Amino acid sequence: MQLYVDSANLKDIKHAASLGILSGVTTNPSLLAKEDPTLDIKKLLLEIHESVGGHTSVEVVSTDTDGMLREADEILQWFPEATIKIPFIPAGLSAVRKLSDQEIPTNVTLLFTANQALIAANAGATYVSLFLGRLDDISTDGVQAVRDTCEIWEMHGLESLIIAASIRNPLHFLECAKAGAHIATVPYKVLMQCMNHPLTDAGLDAFLKDHQKMLTAKS
Ligand code: G3P
Repeated sequence: MQLYVDSANLKDIKHAASLGILSGVTTNPSLLAKEDPTLDIKKLLLEIHESVGGHTSVEVVSTDTDGMLREADEILQWFPEATIKIPFIPAGLSAVRKLSDQEIPTNVTLLFTANQALIAANAGATYVSLFLGRLDDISTDGVQAVRDTCEIWEMHGLESLIIAASIRNPLHFLECAKAGAHIATVPYKVLMQCMNHPLTDAGLDAFLKDHQKMLTAKS
């Protein structure tokens, strides 16, 4: 399972990228709105893309097909490797089909069921993003939606890549990997939580102390 960071915070993205573990980054209008409002969005997205060097999803905010396609053109002028993130609405599906026919990568977002993902795949989506945390928020099993989607993909040999999104904790990350998601896009904080283990810290602490003891005994 590839790892993307789900963030628009340049400091966090740069740190996660410096670890050499990232294959991409996903952003959305809400993540961008959390950053300094005086920032130039184009400049920020370019810096984010350069920092990660891999997949960069940039979301459109139009709700009509022509508007989405115009935005996609503009984003692709900023950097031609961009993946255009499009909400799962009827106008969005038409935009995905048009972009897909031009071999422009798309990431269909705001998917909550395997049915929606399957329909997005039929529109030619390169990526389908399933939001599991938001399902858990309304007492619905988000991981199950990812499992269902992965099962259908396996059965039908579908090509769109499944992104597990709206990941809120390390257990989500683990369960999505077990379900067979191709990619998990993970907030920076959750990424750090997934890396932490007290036994790793205690073990390193003991190794360093023992090494120091050995040096002291020699001197
Ligand atoms: O990639 C989708 C993600 O940004 C949504 O996460 O936590 O707002 O549900 P969340």
